[in-house]
Amino acid sequence: MAVDLTKYISSYKDFPKKGILFRDISPLIENPDAFREATNRLAAFAKKEHANLIAAPEARGFIVGSPVAYKLGIGFVPARKKGKLPTATVSASYGLEYGKSTLYMEKKAIKPGDRVVILDDLLATGGTYSATAKLVKQLKGNVVGAGFIIELSALKGRNKIGDVDTMSLIKY
Ligand code: PRP
Ligand code: ADE
Repeated sequence: MAVDLTKYISSYKDFPKKGILFRDISPLIENPDAFREATNRLAAFAKKEHANLIAAPEARGFIVGSPVAYKLGIGFVPARKKGKLPTATVSASYGLEYGKSTLYMEKKAIKPGDRVVILDDLLATGGTYSATAKLVKQLKGNVVGAGFIIELSALKGRNKIGDVDTMSLIKY
């Protein structure tokens, strides 16, 4: 029987800042059946898009993206925060629901024409997604899909994604 993933999301008012309702995937990844269900569904999506790479932003994106790459037998490319990558990088700055930051990707991580699905735990304003997509595109990869466990529909992150095929497992 399919697992009801909504039961495995906790919500916290005013975290990390006043006015934010924080949606936490910790209970989902702590439960093996729920984590497997989410991973399998995102993997089916990435497979349908014929991805040869998964890219994901630090840090929660790594938790979501890595098992999908492992399951599909394809590579995983991290978009990292400042000062973490040892070789030449591209960078993209962005704003998110509760702050701003810069993400970096190693130039050697993506080859022109790679088919890249971007995964993350949550889509809010779409700032983090857009920065990750910009990094992939700077390296001449094709972003062929965007997948999330949670989508906060009111924040209209999908508008930033444009015509890339997008899926989310839970919508609020
Ligand atoms: C969170 C979340 C997404 C992003 C979504 O990451 O994991 O990556 O915010 O927000 P947006 O759509 O408005 O950009 P956060 O920057 O808090 O980093 P973390 O994964 O290291 O906790
Ligand atoms: N990232 C951006 N907005 C968020 C929220 N409301 N809950 C959890 N992570 C987030």
